[in-house]
Amino acid sequence: MAPPRRPGAGAALLLQQQLVAAAVLLLTTTVAASPRVPAVIVFGDSTVDTGNNNVIPTPLRADFPPYGRDMPGGPRATGRFGNGRLPPDLISEALGLPPLVPAYLDPAYGIDDFARGVCFASAGTGIDNATASVLEVEYYAEYQRRLRARLGRSRAAAVIRDALHVVSIGTNDFLENYFLLATGRFAQFTVDEFEDFLVAGAREFLARIHRLGARRVTFAGLAAIGCLPLERTTNALRGGGCVEEYNEVARRYNAKLQDMVRGLRAEFPKLKLAYISVYESFLNLITDPAKFGLENVEEGCCATGKFEMGFMCNDDAPLTCDDADKFLFWDAFHPTEKVNRLMANHTLEVCYQEGVL
Ligand SMILES: *[C@@H]1O[C@H](CO)[C@@H](O)[C@H](O)[C@H]1NC(C)=O
Ligand SMILES: *[C@@H]1O[C@H](CO)[C@@H](O)[C@H](O)[C@H]1NC(C)=O
Repeated sequence: MAPPRRPGAGAALLLQQQLVAAAVLLLTTTVAASPRVPAVIVFGDSTVDTGNNNVIPTPLRADFPPYGRDMPGGPRATGRFGNGRLPPDLISEALGLPPLVPAYLDPAYGIDDFARGVCFASAGTGIDNATASVLEVEYYAEYQRRLRARLGRSRAAAVIRDALHVVSIGTNDFLENYFLLATGRFAQFTVDEFEDFLVAGAREFLARIHRLGARRVTFAGLAAIGCLPLERTTNALRGGGCVEEYNEVARRYNAKLQDMVRGLRAEFPKLKLAYISVYESFLNLITDPAKFGLENVEEGCCATGKFEMGFMCNDDAPLTCDDADKFLFWDAFHPTEKVNRLMANHTLEVCYQEGVL
């Protein structure tokens, strides 16, 4: 026999049903306002290359130890320039997507993986195609054709539209191109003109991916590039410390980038585009390391930390540190996973503040 129903149980049930209905309504409204992110799509240089350079002929690689020393599940040199994961991986995981964003050229992955995240970045590239040949947008277009073949036109378009596109590029244009004098850009442009040239290139790149359907995009500014260990080492001859000339260029270029980003947002109202202020984040770490549990913000963890990166940072090089979490830099050029985690957090915070997500 069923237990006697208490008076009022019907009303309570009704109330409960109404609450559930209200909650469902609330949930659907929220989802409608801000669709789930189906994928993280990555463009740029070694700061975000998750392994494309492993399969192209280049000396710029990180597919040997101690790179990847602190990857989840144990040491694994994946080609990421760091001791662990990169910002796009951490962003992907935070959005409920896979914890690693696969490299587009990695034969171990296919279109079903790439439908949930894909990385076109390649270490060494820049905005200026004289920095290194840039095929990233061509690969992006090819990816979209494969995605349409797999998912159909409308589902593929939705993936592209709702995906978070993460762009991090520009350091090599200055440090491995302009100031290295190798490409002739130094002779061709004043630094002010070169900044304008790059900003125009960045604008063209963003307009191209917008044309291909990207709607949610983050574009990272330059870090305090004069404070990279490699630049500090070069500067040692001139008394040491950060190369203020390079930091000044970064600040001026970043200001121009921000103007360009504002202009693009005005021109394309449906493009949710956020500028990520990496410079200020890095400077916070350098000026107050203890606040972030850092003990060394001047040298890399790998080897002497003064100049080693890529093939110079290897298991035969002595002196590699034990705890990378105490360092801002993993090698002479690239941050540790700990810092990448802070950058991923900052990027997501900006995305939420500015309505990109
Ligand atoms: C860069 O690319 C543009 C357009 O694809 C091309 O016209 C130009 O020659 C290239 N410049 C260099 C230096 O490779
Ligand atoms: C960023 O980090 C702060 C402090 O740890 C945390 O409260 C916040 O939820 C993080 N934000 C995101 C988007 O992960």
